[in-house]
Amino acid sequence: MRMDILTLFPELFPPVLGESIVGRARKKGLLQICCHQLRDFSPDPRGRVDDTVFGGGKGMLLLAEPFARGIDAIKEHTGSLPHILYMSPRGPVLNQGKARELAGFSHLVILCGHYEGVDQRLLDEYGAEEVSIGDYVLTGGELPAMILADAVSRMLPGVLSEEACFTEESHFSGLLEYPQYTRPEVWRGRAVPSVLLSGHHGNIRAWRQEQALAVTAQNRPDLLEKYGKG
Ligand code: ADE
Repeated sequence: MRMDILTLFPELFPPVLGESIVGRARKKGLLQICCHQLRDFSPDPRGRVDDTVFGGGKGMLLLAEPFARGIDAIKEHTGSLPHILYMSPRGPVLNQGKARELAGFSHLVILCGHYEGVDQRLLDEYGAEEVSIGDYVLTGGELPAMILADAVSRMLPGVLSEEACFTEESHFSGLLEYPQYTRPEVWRGRAVPSVLLSGHHGNIRAWRQEQALAVTAQNRPDLLEKYGKG
């Protein structure tokens, strides 16, 4: 298997994924892990990768384009059609079954968010699968990506002894986050929902509530049930 990781902090990975079982699997050639600096794919001469959030809101959002360029460069280099993952507290929670399923892919690209996350259109454009490592929010997707890479690596054939492979180990009360968008207003033919550009705070709030309910119903119906009772 090959894993490519797109991140603002590629230097965090080698100390963790270069050691122990994963490090040995890499040395044996069972697994290749390549980490890439997201800024290297920014079209901005100063390497800018974020911008403010359309419709208002705290913090900065990562732009779609640097990630898109990174994914396209990886695809071109490898000539493969990777399965794309986005580490996000909004996704279904990683479990052993999911780790086993992901180990079935020959190529994964793992996107690490930071700040308030990434423009929703990147995820839509590439059909990225969102994966959470639990019902808590970390400062970025790097630690979750390491956890996922570790959990998936140990499920690859030859990484663990046969016996160990079969020994599988075994929140919040609110809603999941609504889709967010930043510049440009139209990216690859995908427009930001017009309500977010309207400046009408009541409508924006209502739209976000509706979207949050839809995302929660889609990804975590168990949370929605708790929300309804709460
Ligand atoms: N990024 C921030 N928090 C996260 C979580 N719990 N899982 C995956 N990615 C995240």
